[in-house]
Amino acid sequence: MQASAKAHSNMALIKYWGKRDETLMLPHNSSFSVTLDALYTTTTVAFDAALDHDILILNGREAEEKARLKVSRFLDIVREMAGMNIHAKVTSQNSFPTGAGLASSASGFAALACAASKAAGLELDGKALSMLARRGSGSACRSIYGGFVEWQKGVKLDGSDSYAKPVAPPEHWPLSLLIATVSDKQKKISSREGMAKTVATSPFYNSWLNTIEEDLAQAKAAVQNRDLDTLGKVAERNALRMHATMLSADPPFLYWQKGTIAVIREVESLRESGIPAYFTIDAGANVAVLCEPSHAAQIKEKLLRLREVQHVIVSGPGPGVTLL
Ligand code: PMV
Repeated sequence: MQASAKAHSNMALIKYWGKRDETLMLPHNSSFSVTLDALYTTTTVAFDAALDHDILILNGREAEEKARLKVSRFLDIVREMAGMNIHAKVTSQNSFPTGAGLASSASGFAALACAASKAAGLELDGKALSMLARRGSGSACRSIYGGFVEWQKGVKLDGSDSYAKPVAPPEHWPLSLLIATVSDKQKKISSREGMAKTVATSPFYNSWLNTIEEDLAQAKAAVQNRDLDTLGKVAERNALRMHATMLSADPPFLYWQKGTIAVIREVESLRESGIPAYFTIDAGANVAVLCEPSHAAQIKEKLLRLREVQHVIVSGPGPGVTLL
């Protein structure tokens, strides 16, 4: 009744932004990401008949109630699938510092889906694991696979066609992603809340949806061709369009901090000096910079010189979820 799994985080190059079903976590748009070797979560799930509630230990400490309830609701789905009713102790550790403003929901729920289903006696294949992870956090469905991954939005009401598929393995293209953290402040609006507000109030939301299929096709072709310039341009455009839907929500909101702009400007100036570098930004203030591995050390040094930049984590494409 116990199992452990390791899953890596991912960075969306074509963003998932907006749900058509909040309970089943079904997206309005397909998305595309790269799994990150440097950021991962290791999770052990032990079902124990002696427990009268679920326990969550996160990075060595008992987690706060909100996080415990989120995990408990996720375990309810696993319990229902397995036809059992036993509580569990979940112990989870991130490879990256908490409070660095780095989201752990993708790696966290991918590792939890894998460990909990195995501990409950379920034998799930990649597709079923991806659909399960999606129920914890949408982006987690992509972390089941390594390398370059597409989450096809699906059209069915029950979500049975909404799961991730691998597009290219990690070794296909050793692209570098530099994650520059510029704020350790807890963001005021979670991505879940932010996307719901956007869908409900932004007059630009449908325009955002109309851009996805073309961006997605271009991004996937660029990965197949290992074409950084095309991939970088599409990723930047797509990220800025996502943030534009937030700026146009009512009331509007913006995740960026001073450091976010500082990194954007640095990336522009790197490009002007002939170094190919491109940025993408999730629902937060931190910025990920895409570049060739041969430029990673030089770019890291430049980013660390910016006053607002706290840490730079260099990552490459990483593997999919594994049982330990
Ligand atoms: O899966 P969530 O609820 O953490 O939402 C992720 C949203 C973005 O990070 C902004 C985009 C994405 O596709 O990962």
